[in-house]
Amino acid sequence: MSRYLLTTPIYYVTAKPHLGHAYTTIIGDALARWHRLLGEDVHFLTGTDEHGQKVQDYADAAGKSPQEFVDEIAPLYAEAWKKLNISNDDFIRTTEQRHKIGVAELLQRCYDAGDIELDVYKGKYCVACEEYYTDDELDPGDLCKIHKLKVEYYEEENYFFRLSRFQQRLLDWYDAHPGSIQPEFRGNEALGLIRGGLRDFSVSRTSLKWGIPLPWDSKHVAYVWFDALANYITAIGFGSDDPAQRARFDDWWPGTHLIGKDIIRHHCVYWPAMLLSAGIEPPTSWAVGGWLLVGGEKMSKTSGNVVNPLDLIDDIGVDGFRYYVLAETAFGQDGDFTYEGLIGRYNSDLANNLGNLLSRVATVVGKKCDGLGPAPRADSPLAEAAGAALAGATEGWAALQPSKALDATWGLIRATNAYLEQNEPWKTEPGPAVDAVMGDALEALRIVCILASPAVPDTCQTIWERLGLTGPITEQRVPTDATWGRYPGGLTVTKGDPLFPRR
Ligand code: MSP
Repeated sequence: MSRYLLTTPIYYVTAKPHLGHAYTTIIGDALARWHRLLGEDVHFLTGTDEHGQKVQDYADAAGKSPQEFVDEIAPLYAEAWKKLNISNDDFIRTTEQRHKIGVAELLQRCYDAGDIELDVYKGKYCVACEEYYTDDELDPGDLCKIHKLKVEYYEEENYFFRLSRFQQRLLDWYDAHPGSIQPEFRGNEALGLIRGGLRDFSVSRTSLKWGIPLPWDSKHVAYVWFDALANYITAIGFGSDDPAQRARFDDWWPGTHLIGKDIIRHHCVYWPAMLLSAGIEPPTSWAVGGWLLVGGEKMSKTSGNVVNPLDLIDDIGVDGFRYYVLAETAFGQDGDFTYEGLIGRYNSDLANNLGNLLSRVATVVGKKCDGLGPAPRADSPLAEAAGAALAGATEGWAALQPSKALDATWGLIRATNAYLEQNEPWKTEPGPAVDAVMGDALEALRIVCILASPAVPDTCQTIWERLGLTGPITEQRVPTDATWGRYPGGLTVTKGDPLFPRR
């Protein structure tokens, strides 16, 4: 069985999750669910990034130890993902032991390869600020702008990762793996960074304590990005003493990283270089998303435009929110979140299209077919639309374009509603003509349930059961089960409450 390891970035635990985090995680979840439908063995990983100066500063400000602080925030992420019906197979925290040992091994391997070296960080230093400054950050006469004090020339020992040595190796690797970064213009951006020249980066700090010590020199703790990137391999067993865990790593690695456009340099330049240095294969692929903006800006505490996804669920339901996120934005581009857009999508696509279709079908089957769903016709006029939906959804998910996959799926919903309006089974006497139309509509809905389930899983399971079908949809397989003609007929169809009351 083919394996699919999919990861999200691990989120900083400086505050509770916001809409931007939910956006990336929901896209990952839908992709993971689609790949499970394809019959692949999927491992979907997410987690939290808990070390570094930033977290230390937040903990200090809250008057807590960093460990206490992260222990309070990390569960907020796990809980939010549960509420959003995220099907992650694992959740890694960088403060876990399994992560620490993996980071130590990765560092050691790069060090043994000669790619991490002690060097002297030289610069002008303001003791009052405890900060290095470059010449253009200083006032004339080498005065610090804040304290107006003369800076001192300072030298500090740091370990550096020799990224500069990897330019050609990275270019060769990307050359041999074309299209591994999607969308393509993001791949070009990464190649531009590499071609523009690579500077060594410091991988250790002595001033900071909240981090993982270097295995060969414990006065230093690892740079937070070196630590964080390693989560993708430590979570699947890298660095473990247990042979079963190490075998797990061999089974799953390499995988696909879902990232935001803000972290391309770290993921597409630093990370493959670190892996090459350690003798580990770089990732299979990177899927780079844009930002979900609010009022044209990236959400941040300072702009005061932070939207809490859990508030939106209260208003519109988990699936209403998931659907909006997936259908409204073209993955790779920035999208703009608006409350009106959220409600608009909900009313048009969920209430009017999907909800209305189910309610019409269940009502007519109840009144005209004794509540028993008839079987579809092999030569149904809807079969073609169903085939197109399957093909379009398959193409859309494969191209990392959930909005296209859903538009193709909704094409079948629209075609089925139009088909009912054309045939008006509600006006026809019970008999073979009504049965034929309703069997076709039920079959279309059955296929919609499978194709839409990565986006709106609970809704699809509910509809599935109202059609009289049993078992979890997650056990259905694409394409086989989503091809025309599998609704058996004779099942009890239930009407139930409206799935999406209009807002
Ligand atoms: N901790 C690092 C990532 C380490 S991965 C080895 C980090 N964390 S973060 O919490 O600041 O953001 C992580 C990711 O969340 C971003 O790269 C992006 O993918 C996603 N988003 C954060 N805000 C976002 C939006 N407003 N819109 C879409 N995605 C956004 O960076």
